[in-house]
Amino acid sequence: MKIFTTLLLICTFLFSKASNPPDEGMWLPILLGNNQTEMMAHGCKLTAEQIYSINNSSMKDAIVWFGGGCTGEVMSNEGLVFTNHHCGYGSINELRFNKGKEHDLLVDGYWAKSKSEEIAAPSLSVAFVREMRDITDIVLEKLKGVSEADRAAKLQAIYKTITTEATKDNGYEGLVREFFSGNAYYLFLMERYTDIRLVGTPPWSIGKFGGETDNWMWPRHTGDFSVWRIYANKDNKPAKYAADNVPYHPKHSLPISIKGYKPGDFTMIMGFPGSTRRYEFSRGIQYRTDIFDPHAVTERKIRLDEWKVAMNESKENNQKLNATWASIANYWKNWDGEKRDLLKNNTYETKKAQEAEFEKWAANKPEYANLIKDMNALYDGYMPIAIQIPLTLNEGLLAPKISGIAFTLVALDTMFTKNDTAGIRKLVNQLKASDSTIYSTYIQSADQRIFARLLDYYYTNCPKEQRLAFVDQIIAKYKGKTTLESFQKYAAVVYSKSLFASKEKFDAFLANPTMKKLRKDMAYIHISAIYSNYLQKYKPTIDNFNAQYSALNRLYIKGLMEMQKGKAFYPDANSTLRLTYGAIEDYDPKDGVNYKYYTTLDGAMEKYIPGNEEFDLPKELITLYKNKDYGRYALKDGHLPVAFLTNNDITGGNSGSPVLNGNGELIGLAFDGNWEAMSGNYNFDSKLKRTICVDVRYVLFCIDKLGGASNIINELNIVQ
Ligand code: ARG
Repeated sequence: MKIFTTLLLICTFLFSKASNPPDEGMWLPILLGNNQTEMMAHGCKLTAEQIYSINNSSMKDAIVWFGGGCTGEVMSNEGLVFTNHHCGYGSINELRFNKGKEHDLLVDGYWAKSKSEEIAAPSLSVAFVREMRDITDIVLEKLKGVSEADRAAKLQAIYKTITTEATKDNGYEGLVREFFSGNAYYLFLMERYTDIRLVGTPPWSIGKFGGETDNWMWPRHTGDFSVWRIYANKDNKPAKYAADNVPYHPKHSLPISIKGYKPGDFTMIMGFPGSTRRYEFSRGIQYRTDIFDPHAVTERKIRLDEWKVAMNESKENNQKLNATWASIANYWKNWDGEKRDLLKNNTYETKKAQEAEFEKWAANKPEYANLIKDMNALYDGYMPIAIQIPLTLNEGLLAPKISGIAFTLVALDTMFTKNDTAGIRKLVNQLKASDSTIYSTYIQSADQRIFARLLDYYYTNCPKEQRLAFVDQIIAKYKGKTTLESFQKYAAVVYSKSLFASKEKFDAFLANPTMKKLRKDMAYIHISAIYSNYLQKYKPTIDNFNAQYSALNRLYIKGLMEMQKGKAFYPDANSTLRLTYGAIEDYDPKDGVNYKYYTTLDGAMEKYIPGNEEFDLPKELITLYKNKDYGRYALKDGHLPVAFLTNNDITGGNSGSPVLNGNGELIGLAFDGNWEAMSGNYNFDSKLKRTICVDVRYVLFCIDKLGGASNIINELNIVQ
C-alpha cells in the first residue's frame, strides 16, 4: 500500500493550480491528509483530522449510510437526520396511510409536531462508519500463491476471518472492500441503528417536483429532502424498535449556514457513492454503448410502460408500484444518456489512445508488456455472447416478477433431488416469511404483459444461433399472427396455471411443497429451460471473463500508477465513505447557452401545471409565493433559493449527502447529476459535470413556513 500513499503525497504538490477550482476525485477520508493543502488553498477551514478522526469526534460522525443505497446526515444532538425525499420514498410510501386512510402522508406531506408523533419505519436502518483500516498488506500476504480462479473464494474466507476478529466484542458490522480492482483493501467497521422514525416530509409535489421529466436535469426546482430520527437504547446503542427507545446522541452533528454562497466558493460532499468505473478498458466502453445500455434501456421501457398502465388503473396499484417504478425509471433514463454521452465524448477512442500509450510505455516491461493484447483477446471471446446479460438476466427474461419467483425455486428443486429435508424446511420457512415482500410489487395483469413482451424482445434481438430452442418451440405451439401474439397466448396459459401467479397460490404451494408440483409448473419449466441453457452455454464464459478482467484491470491500474507518477489516483466508488471537494460553479450546456448556478421558487412557478402529476404545487406554497413570505430564508433580492450547482464529483449513492461550505456547515443536500454529463461513471468532464443540490434555505422554508414545524427548526444549529 505504501506506493499509493507516496503517490498521493507527491500529487498534492503537483496539484496546486490555485486558479482552477478542484473537482474530480472521490477521496478516502482516511487519506485526506494528502489533499489537505489543496483543500485549504481553496477555502476549506477544516483540517483532515476535523473531517475524519478515529479518536476525536469529527465530521464523519455525522454521516450515515441511509437505507443501504443513500447518504444521510445527523443534524441535531438528538439524532435528527436529513436525506433526500427520493431516498426515503419507499419508506414514506410504506407509512403512507399510517395516520388513517384520509391522511395520505406521501401526497400531502407530514410533520411530526412532537417526538410522540414520529412514525417508526421498520424497513429502514442507518449505519455509521466508526473506523476504517488499511488492511492491504494483510490481505495481499494471504493471497500469495492463490490462483486467479480461486481468488474470489479465498477473498471471501479472508474477509470472514478479518471481520469476525474485528467485530467480536464491539457489536459493529465488519465490511472489507476491494479498491483499485484489488490493489488495496480496507476494512470498515459500521454501527447500524435500526429504530428509525419519520419526522417529516414535504408533499410529494414538492419532494419529487418535476418527476421523470426533470430527473437528471438542470435547471431544477425539486425540494428533494425528508427528515428522520435515529433512536437508541438508554446506553445510546443500537436497539430494535421499542416505544421507550430514546433519541440517539451523536458524536457530531452538522451546523447549517443560511448565509448563502457565490461561484467559486469551496464546497465538499461526504457520502457513500455506489459505483464508478473510471479505469475501464476501451472495450468495456463498447460493451456499454453497443450492448448493455441500448438493450437494457428498451427492456426497462417495456416494464415502465406496462407498470404505468397498472398504476393508472387504481390507487392500490399506484401505492404498490410507484416507488419501485421511480427507481427503475431513474437508471432507464441514466443509461440512455450514458450511451449518448460515451459516444459523443469519444470515450472509446480516448481510452483506446490511453491503452496505446500504455502499450508503448510497457513494451520493455515484462509485467505489463502483454496486458493490452491479453485484454483484447479476453474481450474477443466475451463480446459475442455478452448480449446474453441484458437479454437473459435481470433486465431481460428474468425481469418479470413471476420469473424471479420461479428462479428462487431452483434451489428448492436441488434440495428435493438431494432429499435435503432440513434445507427444504428452512428455505420454505424463509419464503413464507418473505412472501408479502415478494408479492408487494406484483400485479398479475401487468406482469403477464411484461412477460410476453420481454420474450418477444429476446426473440427479436437474440442472435439466431444463440437463441434458446425452447423459445422457438413456444412459437410453434402457440400460433399467433405475430410472434408477440404467440407469446401473449403462451403467457395467458402460464399465468392461469402457475402456482406462482398470485400470493394465494404461492402460499398454498408453500403449505405443501412437492417436487412433482414444482416440476410440473409452467413458470418453473419456463425458467428452468432459460437458466439451464444459460448455465451451460454462457455462465462459464462470463465467470471466466469476470475473473480475468479483474486481474487485468488490477495490473492495468498498477501500471498506470507507475506510468503516471505524480498523478493523484483516487479509487472507484464502491459504496464506501468518500469526500469530494470543489466549488460552486455554473456551466455552459451548449454553444451560446449559460446555465446559472442557482434557481429560485420563481422557476418552480414557471413550471407549475395545476393538477399535473409532475408539476403540481401545494396551494399553501403558492400563497407564500404570492406574498413573498419567505422569512429569513430569502436572498437579498427577495427571491427564495431552491437548488444550486457545484462541480463536486458524485454518483448514485451520494443522494442525500451533505453539501458543506469551508466551515463544515451544511448549505444543501446533493440529489442529482446533470443531463449533459451522463457518462460520468466512466469519465469526469470538468466542463460539464455538475452536482445538483437542494438549497438548505428551501429545506428550512418548507419545514418552517410551509410545515409549521418550529419544533424541528428549534433543534437545528443554524448559523445566521
Ligand atoms: N436522479 C436521482 C438520483 O439518482 C434520483 C431522482 C429520483 N428518482 C426518480 N426516478 N425521479 O439520485
